[in-house]
Amino acid sequence: MGAMIPHVPEPVTGDIVQLILDDHRLFEALLRELRLDVANREVLRACFADVVLAHGEAEEQHVYTSLQRRRTITAHEAEHGEEEHAELNAAILALWECKGLDTQKFDDAVEEVTKAMSHHIAEEEQSILRDADQDLGVEARADLGKVFCAARSKGLADHIGAEASLRRIVARAERGGLLPPEGESEEE
Ligand SMILES: [Fe+2]
Ligand SMILES: [Fe+2]
Repeated sequence: MGAMIPHVPEPVTGDIVQLILDDHRLFEALLRELRLDVANREVLRACFADVVLAHGEAEEQHVYTSLQRRRTITAHEAEHGEEEHAELNAAILALWECKGLDTQKFDDAVEEVTKAMSHHIAEEEQSILRDADQDLGVEARADLGKVFCAARSKGLADHIGAEASLRRIVARAERGGLLPPEGESEEE
């Protein structure tokens, strides 16, 4: 029968800090499934890529920008977050470039994604989210939550993590200097 479809919640409101933390826990759970549930890797990969990209782009476009305007975070912190997203996105693109799903290459690609992911979410939670937690009032947290949810849902609907879309996003990051140019790190 058909592969099982993982459940990705789509909240429409919430506290921005809690919404982001909930997504990070979801990413960890999906990565665990991607590692262990070999038979469902195709659907898990598509689902994981969509939700991680929808989350990261919504953070960059709405959360980082708003926190920077409020001087809750510095431009340097926002840019560092964007660089980490770019590295994570490049690692997810490598997942798409695996033709076989039950291969050592796929396992290795999952391992690279896991490393980039755990590094980024630990750092984001300890810096940007902690600052947001301290600085934002209840209303600002709810306002940002709503905007974040809308952008995230749009990314999911557009399948922002699909291979062609992800390739454009990674290319844009390369042009923007967030990643080393293609070819330098891909000679394996
Ligand atoms: Fe995040
Ligand atoms: Fe992030």
